[in-house]
Amino acid sequence: MKLGVIGCGLIGLKRAEAGQKLGLDLVAAADLDLGRAEALCARFGGRPMGDYREVLASAADLVVVAVTHDCLASVALEAAKAGKHILLEKPGARRADELRPVLEEAAARKLAVKVGYNHRFHPAFLKARELVDQGALGPLMYVRGRYGHGGRPGYEKEWRMRREISGGGELLDQGSHLIDLSLWFLGHFSEARAQLPGYFWKAGVEDNAFVLLSTPGGQCAMLHASWTEWKNMFSFEIAGTWGKIAIDGLGGSYGTEQLAFYRMLPGMGPPETTIWQYPFPDLSWERELAELAGAVAECRSPMGGLDEALEVLGLIDSIYAGTEKLGGQG
Ligand SMILES: NC(=O)c1ccc[n+]([C@@H]2O[C@H](COP(=O)([O-])OP(=O)(O)OC[C@H]3O[C@@H](n4cnc5c(N)ncnc54)[C@H](O)[C@@H]3O)[C@@H](O)[C@H]2O)c1
Repeated sequence: MKLGVIGCGLIGLKRAEAGQKLGLDLVAAADLDLGRAEALCARFGGRPMGDYREVLASAADLVVVAVTHDCLASVALEAAKAGKHILLEKPGARRADELRPVLEEAAARKLAVKVGYNHRFHPAFLKARELVDQGALGPLMYVRGRYGHGGRPGYEKEWRMRREISGGGELLDQGSHLIDLSLWFLGHFSEARAQLPGYFWKAGVEDNAFVLLSTPGGQCAMLHASWTEWKNMFSFEIAGTWGKIAIDGLGGSYGTEQLAFYRMLPGMGPPETTIWQYPFPDLSWERELAELAGAVAECRSPMGGLDEALEVLGLIDSIYAGTEKLGGQG
């Protein structure tokens, strides 16, 4: 399979590296900043371009779209029109309406499109999925997630803080990962409430998102994403009626990834505790790309496709619009 990369920033590089590890042949890479495309191709091969349409005209079967939020959906739409399978970076667009035409075009052409919610492919989340599917926790009641970092000098001048480019702040950035993970475990949410303060980075978008989501059956997701978390942190808990999972860390600056499974005993009291640790390099990028390549080869939809990304964006839209009731699925 031949790979193309559009957007050669931090994540474009990670995706190109994952492609190389999977043995995909990088044929072309483009960035508005040609120097970035050249630097990526110098490491991973392929022809550097300054215009993404040249990647769409290349022999690539699958393209990574890792551009800024304002261009994600429009570039993905052109990629679908060119008949390419797509790994589209999260959140896929600034708003759900921008993403819908991509879904329609890809469906009409039977293309596989995966949105880059790579956290589902972290080993602790794969283990959590297995435990939940085995019924080890019993029926699920709620999830509680926290995710944050503290930015860097000049962060307020970067594109993420410019609403016309990013579409919003930390809710759309790390918050979208937490919402995606919550959807994966609890299913559709029918209500969304949030507070979106800007405490520190005085830039016109929220730097913290406190979110409460609920399903029609009353299961809740309580989420906090923060750009003022001075020590990087990640925590995600999944609570069932007779057990609980606590995931901490994502590797690197977020600390060693681990999953603790607490099983309530018939007499209650201290639970039986099993801990898995994953002090390994982050393989989620390769696993996610492998899932998409597998979906292409097997002519099936990838796990974590456009439908689910649209649902995440629908919830985010409703929060930004101040609408709390979604009246059914998001
Ligand atoms: N999956 C994850 O965990 C994760 C983590 C960080 C960022 N992201 C997402 O990845 C995407 C890119 O983020 P980043 O951190 O790599 O940003 P970045 O600023 O490092 O890189 C973005 C690149 O896209 C280029 N670009 C913008 N518009 C373009 C266009 N029309 N054609 C060609 N190139 C264009 C820019 O010049 C820049 O080099 C965003 O959607 C972001 O939310 C995902």
